[in-house]
Amino acid sequence: MGAEEYSGRTIERRVVRRIESGIPGLDEILHGGIPARNVVLLSGGPGTGKSIFGQQFLYHGLKRGEPGVLVALEEHPVQIRINMANFGWDVRKYEAEGLFTIVDAFTGGIGEYAKREKYVVKSVDDVPTFIDVVKEAIRDLRAQRVVIDSVTTLYITRPAVARSVVMTLKRVLSGLGCTSILVSQVSVGERGFGGPGVEHAADGIIRLDLDEIEGELRRSLIVWKMRGTSHSMRRHPFDITDRGIVVYPNKVLKFWRGRVYEEG
Ligand SMILES: Nc1ncnc2c1ncn2[C@@H]1O[C@H](COP(=O)(O)OP(=O)(O)O)[C@@H](O)[C@H]1O
Ligand SMILES: [Mg+2]
Repeated sequence: MGAEEYSGRTIERRVVRRIESGIPGLDEILHGGIPARNVVLLSGGPGTGKSIFGQQFLYHGLKRGEPGVLVALEEHPVQIRINMANFGWDVRKYEAEGLFTIVDAFTGGIGEYAKREKYVVKSVDDVPTFIDVVKEAIRDLRAQRVVIDSVTTLYITRPAVARSVVMTLKRVLSGLGCTSILVSQVSVGERGFGGPGVEHAADGIIRLDLDEIEGELRRSLIVWKMRGTSHSMRRHPFDITDRGIVVYPNKVLKFWRGRVYEEG
């Protein structure tokens, strides 16, 4: 840690603490991991791997003893546990130990299975209550990692509130000391990351892509922004395997005139 004079004021230069993403190859692209307390927008079209990315990030934290909360807005919590187990990420033990929980903002508390969930959001249109439930889960678990899958659901019918929703989440999540991933849905072929409000509010933006090139779907990822660190400025290919996402930091995916060139 050092200090420097700036306009008469002393500004501390802190070495940022990094959070391991748990995604092989990604921390190299981020020059050491996600800066702690960052709220990262994870954008991509359908099937690009956003949910798997979020679950892998949380499970890696659990293995390191870092409690995590997954806020489920798109899928049934029961289905999420099954999907995670398919990658070898069995969260039941961590749930029993109080290290992991799923906030159910999907079922609205309706159905037999939903009654077993401890944290339930009845209506996602009631954002203050939604945030209260998320806060309660974070405090109870002393969570260090949070994934919201997806934030788009919170404002899809009300684009005017998108920015204020994300700003509030950022204040709450970062304020409670969490490093967070907000999944943001974009349409197939849509540029951008989910709208001007949310893009500017986020501390970081990682975009996942799936492009059809000469009859084949190719996955790639680009870090567009990451407050608190330098990072690779290149588009890197990645795979989804039966153990999760693997990014190739030494490979670059280049598009030119509809063709793809892989280097490295
Ligand atoms: N075991 C697996 N091996 C390889 N690819 C898989 C596996 N399981 C899922 N996938 C891929 O992951 C995709 C779904 O990823 P997901 O994270 O749910 O996408 P998103 O949340 O962005 O819509 C599937 O469409 C499939 O291509
Ligand atoms: Mg998903």
